[in-house]
Amino acid sequence: MADGRRVLAVQLASSLKEHQKYGGVVPEIASRAHVELLTCELEQLMASARVDPSRIDRIAVTHGPGLAGSLLMGVAAAKALRLAWQRDLVPVNHLHAHLYAALMEDPEVPLEERRIGLVISGGHTALVRMDGIHRYTLLGQTRDDAVGEAFDKVAKLLGLKFPGGPEIERAALGGNPSAFRFTPARMKSGNPYEFSLSGIKTAVLYKIKESGGPPGPQFIADMAASFQSAVVEEVVQKTIRACRESGAVHLAVGGGVVANGVLRRRLAEACGEYGIELRVPALSLCTDNGAMVAGLGAHLEPISSKQLTVIPELGVS
Ligand code: KG4
Ligand code: ZN
Repeated sequence: MADGRRVLAVQLASSLKEHQKYGGVVPEIASRAHVELLTCELEQLMASARVDPSRIDRIAVTHGPGLAGSLLMGVAAAKALRLAWQRDLVPVNHLHAHLYAALMEDPEVPLEERRIGLVISGGHTALVRMDGIHRYTLLGQTRDDAVGEAFDKVAKLLGLKFPGGPEIERAALGGNPSAFRFTPARMKSGNPYEFSLSGIKTAVLYKIKESGGPPGPQFIADMAASFQSAVVEEVVQKTIRACRESGAVHLAVGGGVVANGVLRRRLAEACGEYGIELRVPALSLCTDNGAMVAGLGAHLEPISSKQLTVIPELGVS
């Protein structure tokens, strides 16, 4: 990254194929893949960016939240590079990086503005108030499944591949979003910004059982469209409510689920209706990537190698 804004090169390695046979991420496989791929990926990254190490002024690395094994591999590699290149080390919160992805590519966006932030990924769902890119106040998160996790689990119930989000989106193209009705979960806590998605997942399971056989192509399409529509509405309603009740006129969203076209369209419509300025990442920057981490790292304080540890359960605020 140059200036925390301009992407020079991105290298994306994925161990997806190895996880697919298990229908989800296997922590052991993930950390082993990190060890195997890191050095080679880094070499390719440096070659495609055409940047000499002498022109690199800092190394940003995700220190949490996430799987401990994978985080450890990244942090160990960053520490090794720090030693080799004698450069500053900057720890980055993965969730903050997802939100920064929505802001980083447009140099006209003032980073210090107050906005509502929504992170929806495979591991997290959180609504926050952002006071610039340095202060985050949690408004609500999920009580059970993350939004991406719900897509993955429902896809599995329908016999679709992992990761389920893109599969559900594809299957939904030929389906009727009103074919099945789902009632939004009621929050006992009384916090209108909390999410709960395990109920809808169980409802899908029952509807599959009631159908009496393995789901056929039209059933899958209708269920995918109905589930997607219900979840998208839930996410859009809560997010718009958070913007309106806090008086925020800026919204940034990030995380793998933001790659979903129906969600992007519905968010844009709702924001248009209420005069909210919406920022979403480019499609390639929604799912996990190094550019968002490097970009945000350009704005944060470096710490010493000794201070840098992994924090798997790191929160958003
Ligand atoms: O941010 P991310 O790459 O990884 C985490 O930090 O968790 O998000 C991955 C999640 C997966 O659950 C995946 O199913 C979901 O993002 N996802 C989608 C779409 N593309 C990825 N969900 C819905 N629609 C999509 N098009
Ligand atoms: Zn992520």
